[in-house]
Amino acid sequence: MDVVLLGAPGAGKGTQATAVAREVGLLHLATGDMFRDVVARDTPLGREVRQYMERGELVPDELTIQMVVERLREPDAARGVLFDGFPRTVHQAVALDEHLERMGRLLEAAVYLRVREEVLLDRLSGRWTCQSCQATYHVLFQPPARPGRCDRCGGALYQRPDDQRETAVRRLKVYFEHTLPVLEYYRGRGVLREVNGERDIASVRADLLRAIRQRVPQV
Ligand code: AP5
Repeated sequence: MDVVLLGAPGAGKGTQATAVAREVGLLHLATGDMFRDVVARDTPLGREVRQYMERGELVPDELTIQMVVERLREPDAARGVLFDGFPRTVHQAVALDEHLERMGRLLEAAVYLRVREEVLLDRLSGRWTCQSCQATYHVLFQPPARPGRCDRCGGALYQRPDDQRETAVRRLKVYFEHTLPVLEYYRGRGVLREVNGERDIASVRADLLRAIRQRVPQV
C-alpha cells in the first residue's frame, strides 16, 4: 500500500506522518527532511538545493523525482510508503504513478489536510524543529516539556530559516500555484480524501487514520 499525505506548509503533515505511518505499517518518506539532510552535507548538490529552500521555492522536479525513485529502491520501502511533502506538482504526481506501476504497485489513497491560510502562518511562525530527529513543536500549540529540547530524543530545537514570515508567505504562494492542482489530479483518480486539519492534534490523527482505512480497510 502507498499513501500520499497532502497539505500546505504548516498544515501538520510532519506532526502526524511519523505516528500515522507507524500505525499502518508504512515507511515515512518526507522530501523536506531528505533535502535538509542533503543541504547539511554541504556538497555542490547541497548548496544548489539550499538556494531553492532558502527562497521558499520548489526544488526542480527532475532532481526531486530522482531522489524519491532512488529511495524507493531501498529494501525498507518495499512494505509501502507514506509520502509527506511529495508530490508537489502534477508532474511529480504523474511520475510517482508511473514509477509505482513499474514496481507493480498502486497509490491507494491521497489524504489532504485542509487548514486556512491565516492558521498556517501562525503555525509556521511559532514552530520549533529538532535538529537531530526533525520532530516539530509549537511555542503555543505543542510546546516541548523542556524549553529548547526535543521530548523524543533530547536534541536541540531550532527555528527553520524558511519559517521566517517573508519566506513562509512565499512558500504558501508557491503551494497555491503548483501544489493545489495535485488535489484535482487525485480527485480525478478517485483516491482523494479530505481531513479538517484545524482540530486538535489527536483528533486530526484519528481522522487521518479513518480516512486511510476508508480506502484500505485491511490496515
Ligand atoms: P517541507 O519540509 O516539506 O515543508 P512544507 O511542506 O512546507 O511543510 P512543513 O514542514 O512546513 O509543514 P508541515 O505540514 O509538516 O507542518 P508541521 O507538522 O511541522 O519542505 C521544505 C522545502 O523543501 C520546500 O519549501 C522545498 O524547497 C523543498 N521540497 C520539499 N519537498 C519538495 C518536493 N516534493 N518538490 C520540490 N521541492 C520540495 O506543523 C507546523 C506547526 O503547526 C508545528 O509547530 C506543529 O506543532 C503545529 N501543529 C501541527 N498540527 C497542529 C494542530 N492540529 N493544532 C495546532 N498546532 C498544530
